[in-house]
Amino acid sequence: MAISDLALIDAWKDVLTLSKLTAGEQVSLLVSDDSNPQLVSTARIAVGQLGGVLTILQLPPLNGDVALSRDKSGYVGHTALRGNRPALEAMKHSDLVIDTMMLLFSPEQEEILKTGARMLLACEPPEVMLRMKPTLDDARRASAGAARLATAKTLTVTSKAGTDFRCAVGQYPVLKQQGFVDVKGGWDHWPSCFVATWPNEGSCEGVIVIDTGDILLPFKRYAREPIRIEIEGGWIRRIVGGFEAEYLRSYMESFNDPDAYAMAHVGWGLHKKAHWTTLGLYDREAGLSMDARSFYGNFLWSSGPNTEAGGTRDTPCHMDIPLRGHSLFLDGEPMTIDGRVIPEDQK
Ligand SMILES: [Fe+2]
Repeated sequence: MAISDLALIDAWKDVLTLSKLTAGEQVSLLVSDDSNPQLVSTARIAVGQLGGVLTILQLPPLNGDVALSRDKSGYVGHTALRGNRPALEAMKHSDLVIDTMMLLFSPEQEEILKTGARMLLACEPPEVMLRMKPTLDDARRASAGAARLATAKTLTVTSKAGTDFRCAVGQYPVLKQQGFVDVKGGWDHWPSCFVATWPNEGSCEGVIVIDTGDILLPFKRYAREPIRIEIEGGWIRRIVGGFEAEYLRSYMESFNDPDAYAMAHVGWGLHKKAHWTTLGLYDREAGLSMDARSFYGNFLWSSGPNTEAGGTRDTPCHMDIPLRGHSLFLDGEPMTIDGRVIPEDQK
């Protein structure tokens, strides 16, 4: 359903205020050909009304000839910033970068964050952004989950469908997404609310069963039959099942990159206004499906790159796979049971 410019300007102002934008701060707005025009035009007005000093960086699209879909997460890491010194320098001298084209996983993003600039990714459809507009309560839940995850040594996951997975954690930082960015050098994503980390190298073992109705991203499809993922020593070794498994195998093989099979971030969703059902209701090419990634109580796991965590695997193949009805434990303490969030401070 359409969103008025006025409503979106107000939402931007709320999110930018939560992101501690103050008058006189340098703001870079990163735009590409597939940025949502209403998102860009309303961001410009909101930044101006809050007194930010705005620079708009319009960069050409990239990867269209190598990606297998239009999804911004369908081919990650290699962005139009590569070799573009003026654009990169502009962002490194900014207090806040608003990214509507998706720099996520790129080495340039890490370079920008190291300068102390804070970054906010924003590229979902306006109606999704408005419905899932972040609140302090989202931040409270995400912070509670992140704090627990930061002290964990082991993460185990089970499900009635057959998942039986375990890994050690602590080697890599905790990823907290709360929807706004309020710390120097921080990165966040509107809309989102989940916590995750990357397993210790070589420590993932077991089986993950993607059941009927679970979600495969960036395919943006519900699995129509179970897929069994067999993991040893941190790597996906076998993908077993029928057509769905064959499709996933072929997609991953097409990148011809062994790093595509590494286990990447694992965690759980904490957004109360995200729904696993919306994937079936929206144009699949409209956004990133942050509903799926962050719905309350999901088990979100992924494969491929770990550059975001400071690692060296920069494969462009990145699957995000949110599952329903799973139970996730940290050192034996339940974070979710059968898809229900358990700790009081994450409710
Ligand atoms: Fe991911």
